[in-house]
Order: sequence, then C-alpha cells, then structure tokens
Amino acid sequence: MNYKHEIAKLINIEGFSTEDIENLITFPKDSSMGDYALPCFKFSKVLRKAPVIIANELKDTIPNSELIEKVESVAGYLNFTMSKVPFIKETLEKINTEKENYGSSTLGNGKTICIDYSSINIAKPFHIGHLSTTVIGAALYRIYKFLGYNTVGINHLGDWGTQFGKLIVAYKLWGDKEKIEKNGIRALLEIYVKFHTEAEKNDSLNDEARAWFKKIEDGDQEALGLFEWFKDITLKEVSRVYKRLDIKFDSYNGESFYNDKMQPILDEIEEKGLSKKSEGATIVDLEEYGMAPCLLKKADGATLYATRDLAAAFYRKKTYDFDKCLYVVAYQQNLHFKQWFKVVELMGYPWAKDLIHVAFGMVSLEGASLSTRKGNVVFLEEVLDNAVKKAYGIICEKNANLENKEQIAEEVGVGAVVFSALSNNRIKDISFSYDKVLNFDGETAPYIQYTHARCCSVLEKGNMGSEIDYKGLANDEAFELVKLLERFPQIIEDSANKNEPSMVTRHIISIAQAYNKFYINHRIIDQPEGIKNARLLLTACTKDVIKTGLNLIGIKAPTKM
Ligand code: ARG
Repeated sequence: MNYKHEIAKLINIEGFSTEDIENLITFPKDSSMGDYALPCFKFSKVLRKAPVIIANELKDTIPNSELIEKVESVAGYLNFTMSKVPFIKETLEKINTEKENYGSSTLGNGKTICIDYSSINIAKPFHIGHLSTTVIGAALYRIYKFLGYNTVGINHLGDWGTQFGKLIVAYKLWGDKEKIEKNGIRALLEIYVKFHTEAEKNDSLNDEARAWFKKIEDGDQEALGLFEWFKDITLKEVSRVYKRLDIKFDSYNGESFYNDKMQPILDEIEEKGLSKKSEGATIVDLEEYGMAPCLLKKADGATLYATRDLAAAFYRKKTYDFDKCLYVVAYQQNLHFKQWFKVVELMGYPWAKDLIHVAFGMVSLEGASLSTRKGNVVFLEEVLDNAVKKAYGIICEKNANLENKEQIAEEVGVGAVVFSALSNNRIKDISFSYDKVLNFDGETAPYIQYTHARCCSVLEKGNMGSEIDYKGLANDEAFELVKLLERFPQIIEDSANKNEPSMVTRHIISIAQAYNKFYINHRIIDQPEGIKNARLLLTACTKDVIKTGLNLIGIKAPTKM
C-alpha cells in the first residue's frame, strides 16, 4: 500500500488530480504534527481562499478510514495521523514478503541510463580525488538498476594527449621494464616527473615527445605498443581497487576511442554555421549565452577534451539510445559541460536536455595522519589499506573472539571510506578523516553495519515464531521506525530523481538510529510469544532494509561485527 496515494484518494479538490495531491503530501519533521501533511498553499489561487480556510474546510470532508487515526488543520496544513497498528502491520508484511526486493521497482523498465563515472586517466595515479566520482557513480548505477532501468556504466578513460609522448620519451631514456611491471603507476609517475625536470633544462625533449605522440596518432607499431602497455598497467592497478569497491563497468571506451569519430560532428557543426575560426582555432562562440567559447580544434589541428566529449555523446546516443546520460564529474568542470551541452542544443538535438552533469565537491585530507603522501598524491588504494588496518585494530579491541576478522575489517574499512563520499549532499566539499569515518558511534558506515549485525544477532537468539501480536509494536519508537521503513522506496526514487545517493545514506542512518532507540527502550526476547515475534519481525524488516540500503550505496553488510 502506498499511503500517500491512499490519503490523496480521500481528498477532492477541483482542478487537482489525485496524483497532483499525492505529490504535494510531505512528511512533517515532528511527529506531533502527524505522519503525513498536505500543505494547502498551492490550492489558494485556484480556490480563491486562504490556505487556512481551505485546510479547515477540507478536514470536514475527509471520510472515516481505518487507516487514519485523526486529521487536523494547522496553519494551512492538513495533518494526518495514521492508525498505528494497521500501518505497522501492512508495512512489515510487505517488507517481509518482498525481502531484499523491497524498494525495487519497474519504474525504469524500457529506459536506459548511461553513467559516465570514475573515468580515470591512464598512467596517472588513481587518487583520493577520484573517490567521489567512483562511488557516487557506482551508487547511482545500482540505484537506477534497482528501479528497473537498463544502466550502462562507462569509464571514459583519459587515454589521449601529448603526455603519452612524454611518457614514451621518459621510458626510453630512464625506464626499467621490470620495475614498471612491479611498481605500476608509481614507477610511471616517477619517470614522468623526471621528464618534466629534465625538459626544463633541455627543451629538445619536448620536441621528441611531440614526435612520439604524433607516432601514436599515426598508428606506429612501437609507439602504439608502449601506449597500450601503459594502459594495461594502469587498468590492472585500478582494477584492484574496483574489485575491492565491487564496481564494474560496461564500457571502457575512453578518449582515444573517439579519434575517428569526431570529424563528422565537426563537419555538421560547421555546416550548421555554428563554428568559426579564431586565431587559427575552431570554436563555437557562446558569448550570447554568457560563456567563454567552446574550443573544438587548436590552431595546429589537435582536437580537445570537449571535441571528444561531443563525439562520445553522439556515439552513446546512437549505441544505447539513452533516456539520460549522466556525467559524474567534479564541479570544477561545470563550464566544460555547460559549454558542450549547449553546442548539442544549438545543433538542434532535443536530447541535449538529457545530458546531465552530476557535479560534486572536493575531497581534502586531514594533514598529520597522512604519512603516505607521495608528493601531493594520496593513492586511493592506500587510503583503503589504512582504513582497513585501523578497522582491524578497532574490531580486535571490541570483539577479540570474532571469527573472520580480516574479512570483516576489509568490509568495515572500505565501507567507511565509501560512506564518507556518500553521506552528504554531493556538492559539498569533504574533509576526510580516518577517525571520523571509523567512529562506530557516529553517523558512519560502521555504525550502520553494527546495527545490521545487531539485528542479525537478535534474530539468531530470538527464534521467531509465526504468531504475531502487533500490540508489541504499539509504541512510539516502533512506530517511528516503521514510518522510516515505509518511506524507503520513495527515498530511493527521490534519490534517483535528484541523482543524490546521499538521500539513501541519510535515510539508513535514520533507520539505524531509530532501531537502536527501539532496542534500548523495549525488551525483545524475554517477552510473551506474540509480542516477541512482533518485535523480531520489526528487527528482521529493519535488517533487510538496512542491507538493501547499504548494498545500493556499495557497502557490505557483515552479519557479525
Ligand atoms: N578523465 C577526466 C578527468 O580526470 C574526467 C572525465 C569525465 N568524463 C567525461 N566524459 N568528460 O578530469
């Protein structure tokens, strides 16, 4: 049962459909204001009456319903307090039937969402700055999938540019094959940095680099071979991290993939009279729209990041026929996306509106505890390793006899890091701290995981039977918890609509807190059978919802901690 819908059906207002009304219904922050509320401000214009009067009049038209305990009109709102037991019974039965599918939907059936995320750069460190794009993108991928969408995860590799010419020169001068095979990106980074110091003294190195890059472009065997090797090394290394984060991609088509796909689009832009030459470069002037021009070709004929993004968008539209294409990329690139989205729009393609930049803030790290800094780069893998090590320490302290401590420390440590990028509105900057993310009592992944494990242990001890007396749940703590559980499917939908996985995260934090409040205030196991079973049922439903929520944001739910 969808309660918003059931309530909306009881309300008749001329000019507004049941669906309109349903969409207006909100959840009051404070439950003394009821469980659902209909703000009457929107009706004011049409009905030509003050909201307070509308709410008063509406109140008397609501038919008696066994679902609703009372209806009140307060300051332009119509507040509904639900009858506790039917609401609880209905909700828990639904969750208990649907189990891990509770909250899933067929909403997205027949629709495709492309998600461009992580999108790492070849031969560059996979660092803490990539955390957000990687975990936000992966969470959106899971959320959309859960809602029935066909999802396409794309790692738009940064595998093009003059830096690969530099890297070849550096490798030929100072490279050690074995060392690179062994140390991976770090070894590549080392010779790349050396290239820059040496090139400052000796400019001819830059000429050589340009020549090697040209060779890659021209398909020279040796050049391409080295380039592919750098790519393999990078992908091998980042795959280790993706595996730990349980992330997969459906496509690794990166920038180089579009080498031969840009010209037709450049031609079309020119034919449509959108581009012009400026000091030898090809640009689309966007002054009219208050933006700097979108640069498509440099004076030397080289294409740019935006040119490749344009080609990629057309390719994705043709290949996947997406309903939406999301770009999970830091807000520093706001202008870049606005510019080339505009170009697609000016070309006359209505799907320009389906291109969405899902921006997020920056991650910074607490200073002192980062002993692993290499230059200014903190590898994501090291952050995971450190968090796991610390989690292991905490687990040993809290529960020395726990079996499988390594595995659980991995799930807790990695989960804590993932959570840090998914717990606040994505646009906010994050200041990462190990102590903060690993605080078992804070609003953290370990806290939620711990609550899940607590549920599992209660269920194991409780031995639930089938006779259920819902009076065992007729208390405020249980009711507040059930309300949150009932809202879970809606939250998942909202989080997809806003491309904001943190809504799921916040919601499962609230659920964990509400369960613990219930747990502290009400005995479960040593109760009369029916009461015990009702409380165990609530525990089982809480466990399932927390697990689904953690799954969606990419965090494991150990059964013991
Ligand atoms: N590799 C780019 C970077 O690190 C991100 C690419 C994002 N995706 C895109 N289609 N532009 O900045």
